[in-house]
Amino acid sequence: MTRIQNTVDYFEAYEAGKLNPEGFWGRYASHEFTWRAPWHNVYSADFEQARFRWFEGAQLNITENCLDRHLHTRGDQIAVIWEPNDPIEEPIKLSYRELYHRVCQTANVLKRLGASKGDRICLYMPMIPELLISVLACARIGAIHSVVFAGFSSRSLADRINDAGCSILITADGSFRGDKIVPLKDIADQALEACNSVRKSIVVKRTETEIQMVEGRDVWWHDLHTGVAEICDAEVMDSEDPLFILYTSGSTGRPKGMVHTCGGYMVYTCYSFEQVFQYRDGEIYWCTADIGWITGHSYIVYGPLLYGATTMLFEGVPSYPDMGRFWQIVDKYEVNIFYTAPTAIRALAQCDPKLIERSSLRSLRVLGTVGEPINLEAWEWYNDVIGKGQCPIVDTWWQTETGGIMISPLAGITHLKPTFATLPLPGIVPVLMDEHGNEIHERIAEGKLCIKQPWPSMARTIYGDHQRFIDTYFAHFPGYYFTGDGARRDLDGFYRITGRVDDVVIVSGHNLGTAEIENALDEHEQVAESAVVGYPHPIKGNAICAFIVMDSNIQAGSTLEQELLDLVSTIIGPIAKPDKFYIVPGLHKTRSGKIMRRILRKLASGDGQDLGDISTLLNPEIVESIGQSMGLTTSA
Ligand code: PRX
Repeated sequence: MTRIQNTVDYFEAYEAGKLNPEGFWGRYASHEFTWRAPWHNVYSADFEQARFRWFEGAQLNITENCLDRHLHTRGDQIAVIWEPNDPIEEPIKLSYRELYHRVCQTANVLKRLGASKGDRICLYMPMIPELLISVLACARIGAIHSVVFAGFSSRSLADRINDAGCSILITADGSFRGDKIVPLKDIADQALEACNSVRKSIVVKRTETEIQMVEGRDVWWHDLHTGVAEICDAEVMDSEDPLFILYTSGSTGRPKGMVHTCGGYMVYTCYSFEQVFQYRDGEIYWCTADIGWITGHSYIVYGPLLYGATTMLFEGVPSYPDMGRFWQIVDKYEVNIFYTAPTAIRALAQCDPKLIERSSLRSLRVLGTVGEPINLEAWEWYNDVIGKGQCPIVDTWWQTETGGIMISPLAGITHLKPTFATLPLPGIVPVLMDEHGNEIHERIAEGKLCIKQPWPSMARTIYGDHQRFIDTYFAHFPGYYFTGDGARRDLDGFYRITGRVDDVVIVSGHNLGTAEIENALDEHEQVAESAVVGYPHPIKGNAICAFIVMDSNIQAGSTLEQELLDLVSTIIGPIAKPDKFYIVPGLHKTRSGKIMRRILRKLASGDGQDLGDISTLLNPEIVESIGQSMGLTTSA
């Protein structure tokens, strides 16, 4: 199949993907890529055991497809443009050929350090070219990369390193974030105190921050690279060999290490990049995400490079040196496709219009959004002020687990409807389920969003815990993948994502598990119990509200709130800090001992009225006391 060019193509492709997925995916996969050996079966699926295989028997290396394959046709084309945190610093542009050599060199460095196929390598790095190079260097030698977002705390980093048993860590002396320097190496050092598996830590010099190098363990990136060959044969991988692990928060317990595999992920990220953004040769594509999240993996690194695009990497933040930075970058590089998150859009919409007016934004052709539902006001601002009414907005719904974009307009091809992710990509079959667990067949409907048919880039397991994978995604609705999101469908079959239906809260586009935050708060020696919920926030989408029950006879001290904030920062990271705290006398529980969070969510949003039926609670009277602690009057 070639690129979808109009709505007739779309509907034809959609039918083909639904009726004959083998033919549909087999055709796309054989058309685009370099395979070292062909598959004998396009896919097999066992929903009960959650075993899915794509392009079985095929062999490949994804970096040969991102790099080597392009050398003859676009070796001198820019593959990556890196824009530093400080606009005065020189950007770096790497052609496909240069990137190829840098990746090969780092791959050789990793091999020299003893890394090989199947080893796990943790990357805890700023948004610098070395991060993208390291991702690809791991893939080159068949090592499994586990990128940990550089905003996470040392505890979170240690947990992730230990969960995956990483043998090498790649980090940097520090990370520039606007006018601040984050001491990455210090944080990594603290983490490594709790990690026995890490033999070597490679340190990129970025901020020139003074650091301690641990003898025998820590080595400078630049020392390791001196004189190392710039050619490295790619490890031949089976289609189903793991490519990476990426952690995401869950409703309960610890973060889940989602495992993605080589063949299917490659096919789907390239396919979805091409179809959704309708990238044209020579265009500059910029996704503002961090490589530490799935959006960065799939749509800064793999998708664009597989397709042969020019992808941008931005080290800094939208507010430095001022809130006009994004728009200045758009003009500076004549960016054509710009992909960001609703939180950023809402924050940027609040700022002085002069910061936008000084940029022409003439080059923009396609705008994208991802990570959380976009509200109408933000959509319209993005459309009118940034897109000047000329650029289609692709509202892309997907997840760490799905690997690639699942529901989205195709830019300039399918229809838009503000706040709707609209239609599934061909090959993706979403359904809505009712409260009895049955598929809703009526066109106009609201329910829990599931996916009925396997797709190539679905996560294959949770690292080290396949049972949790089954329980989380395949047990609620047997025979379906359950997304954890709710959605509405309109007469045209367009989907609008209404938000999480589990205990995950999306704050500024980051997935946070409420249980994880509660566990952190509970570590405070004076806290007996806590409950955390999300509530609507005008910029962040959602914010976190924490209800704290103190140990008996202990009065909350004046520093308690700060201590709790510090605790959450230390244990998880600053992104998980609650916005509001309430000290409450107790928490209302159901007869099975569960906190009825629905009520807390309502109270946290400032509404104490119409709390619904609370008669099934063990201690309904406590609801009124909680309301009083918050200054709200309550009624059932
Ligand atoms: O609730 C959905 C929301 O983000 C969740 C997935 O988060 P994560 O795994 O971190 O991946 C984010 C980037 C793909 C989803 O379950 N979400 C993502 N995109 C959208 C969205 N909600 C509404 N509209 C979207 N476009």
